Amino acid sequence: MITGPVLAIETSCDETAAAVVEGRVVRSSVVASQADLHAPYGGVVPEVAARHHIGTVNAVVDRALAEAGLRLADTAAVAVTRRPGLIGALLVGVATAKALAYAARKPLLMVDHLHGHVCASWLAPLALDPPFVSLIASGGHTRLDLVRDWRAPEPLGQTLDDAAGEAIDKGARLLGLPYPGGPALERLARDGDRDAFTFPVGLAGRPPGLDFSYAGVKTALLYRVRELGEAGTAERRADLAASYQEAVVRPLADRLMRAAERTGVTAVAIGGGVAANGRLRELVRAAAEARGLRVAIPDRALCTDNAAMIGAAAHFADPVPWPDYLALDAMATAPPGGIAA
Ligand code: KG4
Ligand code: ZN
Repeated sequence: MITGPVLAIETSCDETAAAVVEGRVVRSSVVASQADLHAPYGGVVPEVAARHHIGTVNAVVDRALAEAGLRLADTAAVAVTRRPGLIGALLVGVATAKALAYAARKPLLMVDHLHGHVCASWLAPLALDPPFVSLIASGGHTRLDLVRDWRAPEPLGQTLDDAAGEAIDKGARLLGLPYPGGPALERLARDGDRDAFTFPVGLAGRPPGLDFSYAGVKTALLYRVRELGEAGTAERRADLAASYQEAVVRPLADRLMRAAERTGVTAVAIGGGVAANGRLRELVRAAAEARGLRVAIPDRALCTDNAAMIGAAAHFADPVPWPDYLALDAMATAPPGGIAA
């Protein structure tokens, strides 16, 4: 385990991020979003993301170090997201981290992005300790894990098709909202009635389990929008947004509570970009409090992609000593099964 400040870098998708984390304390966290660059395309263009990371990453690292009042030489190690994500984007972060660590003769810590999302709750002031059930809902993943040991979350359930964030983004697009869809859908939903429309809840007909399904809800919204026509959809946009958001986030909160009940833990945590959603945060907080569970809800900025969470997960990774890491590579996908430290 590394003691001392860790410089962490995250470039797995469309945020260029760097942070300095010391123990559970975030000394700095800088996120440069490329969202505006991808908006005209309605989603992330991998090649554009990778090229933009190259142009931005050094400045973002410099700012993270400056805000922490440190030089690279003062850090104890460099950490980086190794997987999963867009391969070109990941390669920029990994190459940058290797170069910095090599030049400064520091060890390197390779981190799994999803493990980062789980470990956001390890950071102060939440400073959660196991055992707890973790819900991660992002653009590419939706899963529940039992965390008895930070190093090895144990899978309880996951989505069988689309991720919750994917459903949010596709729904937002159907309602004519700009990319990124999540925050825009949440804003529009504020003026709508969440009971106005009923959308199917994935896997509702099956015995109650801990998996998720989002392919059906997205199709249901598509049919509703077609039925209503252009003018009807425009008129009911806020109601559609509120009802659709409810159909996506309610199963997340419900299954998280079910998982807590089944495992007998007394604490739950949420993470990933969808965990920035106000309605999900409200549902999870209320349900947990009603059951007397401790609930860890990280700051919104620690739910959407950031490097502070990578610095947190780095605490549980095995340091690769200088210069043994030069041949290590990024990987687009995670190994099957659980989240690896
Ligand atoms: O964790 P994240 O930033 O990146 C991935 O690892 O995928 O998650 C991105 C996802 C996107 O689908 C985005 O629309 C969603 O999180 N998201 C939200 C909100 N902010 C981001 N969904 C609902 N409400 C939000 N406020
Ligand atoms: Zn993420």
